[in-house]
Amino acid sequence: MHRPTADAEWWRTAVIYQVYPRSFGDADGDGIGDLPGITERLDHLARLGVDAVWLSPFYRSPQKDAGYDVADYRDVDPLFGTLADADALIARAHELGLRVVVDLVPNHTSDQHVWFRQALADGPGSAARARYMFREGGGERGEEPPNNWQSVFGGSAWTRVSERPDAPGSSWERDGQWYLHLFDSSQPDLNWDSPEVHDEFRSILRFWLDRGVDGFRVDVAHGLVKAPGLPDWAGHVRMVEGTDVEEGLSDGDVIAPDASDDAVTGRSPMFDQDGVHEIYREWRAVLDEYDGERMLVAEAWVEPLERLALYVRPDEMHQAFNFDFLVTRWDAAALRASIAGSYAANDAVGAPTSWVLSNHDVVRHASRLGLAETGKGPNGIGAEDTQPDAELGLRRARAASLLMLGLAGSAYVYQGEELGLPEHTTLDDSLRQDPAWWRTGHAEKGRDGCRVPLPWRSDAPGLGFSPTGRTWLPQPESWSELAPDVQEQQEDSTLRLYRRALALRAEHRLGAGAMELLPAGEDVVAVRNTARAAVVVIANLGAEPVALPAGHEVLVASGPLDGDTLPTDTAVWLRERA
Ligand code: GLC
Repeated sequence: MHRPTADAEWWRTAVIYQVYPRSFGDADGDGIGDLPGITERLDHLARLGVDAVWLSPFYRSPQKDAGYDVADYRDVDPLFGTLADADALIARAHELGLRVVVDLVPNHTSDQHVWFRQALADGPGSAARARYMFREGGGERGEEPPNNWQSVFGGSAWTRVSERPDAPGSSWERDGQWYLHLFDSSQPDLNWDSPEVHDEFRSILRFWLDRGVDGFRVDVAHGLVKAPGLPDWAGHVRMVEGTDVEEGLSDGDVIAPDASDDAVTGRSPMFDQDGVHEIYREWRAVLDEYDGERMLVAEAWVEPLERLALYVRPDEMHQAFNFDFLVTRWDAAALRASIAGSYAANDAVGAPTSWVLSNHDVVRHASRLGLAETGKGPNGIGAEDTQPDAELGLRRARAASLLMLGLAGSAYVYQGEELGLPEHTTLDDSLRQDPAWWRTGHAEKGRDGCRVPLPWRSDAPGLGFSPTGRTWLPQPESWSELAPDVQEQQEDSTLRLYRRALALRAEHRLGAGAMELLPAGEDVVAVRNTARAAVVVIANLGAEPVALPAGHEVLVASGPLDGDTLPTDTAVWLRERA
């Protein structure tokens, strides 16, 4: 299924831990995580055994979309610290042998970015407007948006501006052009036809490469180029699978299927246009000027896997998040198909396959896998929704994680999944901050439930997240039992399971192994990963226990084994006896 990768660059086999800065650790006591709070806690990650950290955005931002609305790409938001704090974080991580990947947000800026403010001030036809996607409206007086595109967060993807903000009697009357925003209205899309935009982002890459970062996670990598003429589209975009409120359509992805051919191939006029690849070739050339194996990883919600593989051709990015694996339902045949399909598509272009189960945009997998319907899951869960089965979810999550960490390639771990943290599923609606919550008229709860501040100490106020006990979102009560100080003491804790798995993965070089799908029962995923020695990874998704193959030694299991049988929703790594 997949050949071994010898003497590979670090990113081909790395386990990369996602830090969500506002919720990892707070040093200054304001209840919002910050860079010094991360630096203080990097030991936890070194001990966990990961190879790198990826930091979600910490740049200067009005925080309308938790920092994915960047006002200054070359500065740290005061909420998170200073540039000196970023330097200190990078230095400390490197001392501990951890690489550092930062987030790059090239599809849009904040509306508070100096470029956008200038675009508003300079008016139609100006050079400043040409950096964004301004268009005249339709209708008799330009009162209709330029096309029918919807924002990923809900509502129209267009907002109208006023061209005469200071005229007496008409101040802020919206009588002007419209600008495109695939996300919130505070996140205007950049115009990637503009050479200035290209120059600026190459320069931003250099700014951070010069500061020593090892790579970039590229936000909405499939969105930068839009179809010429911005044609209307009958489909509906969503971050996360959900139900279209108006039309009752069921959406399978960011890109929902509709009757048109483009949608069937997973393409809408706003996403996955061929032109994006030129941009990544330019960036690759910049990274290649630097030593130290710097890397780019694409956040591209693109289907099918063959289209995604185009982003990781030899002269483009190094990795792309494997969301196909993340959205696969808890079903052995579906998982086998996703694993085999992922290797086939990536091997064809010589790229590593990445594996991911959770991030800051989806319901945590310890909760997702406890829902009646597994798969991509809803966009958030609220108190009045059917609650996930916590025990089932955790059991499956541990099995899913052990399966994932046994696969060759690179794996992503989202902060807190090493503690088995569930989603906050009963968050008070008044506390919600995700723009999707507002923009969908509360039809979607949004992503706050997977972004709650981490627990560190069970007996401390705010579970040790902050010296004052403050936390910008409340932590679920169940989390005090899940704090690392408690899990340290428990041999069967999720934290110790992750540590053991990561140590074994490193010892056996599983990231670089050859992969073979083994014949197994219908409800079983079984693979052999051969690097230093052959390690067999088996996950039982069926209702009945299955017999373990004879002649094997158990290296690690996601739950208790029953003699020589593997219980339901349990995974195991076995070493073949010579
Ligand atoms: C990406 C981010 C998400 C953000 C969006 C807009 O999908 O992961 O958190 O809201 O882009 O930048």
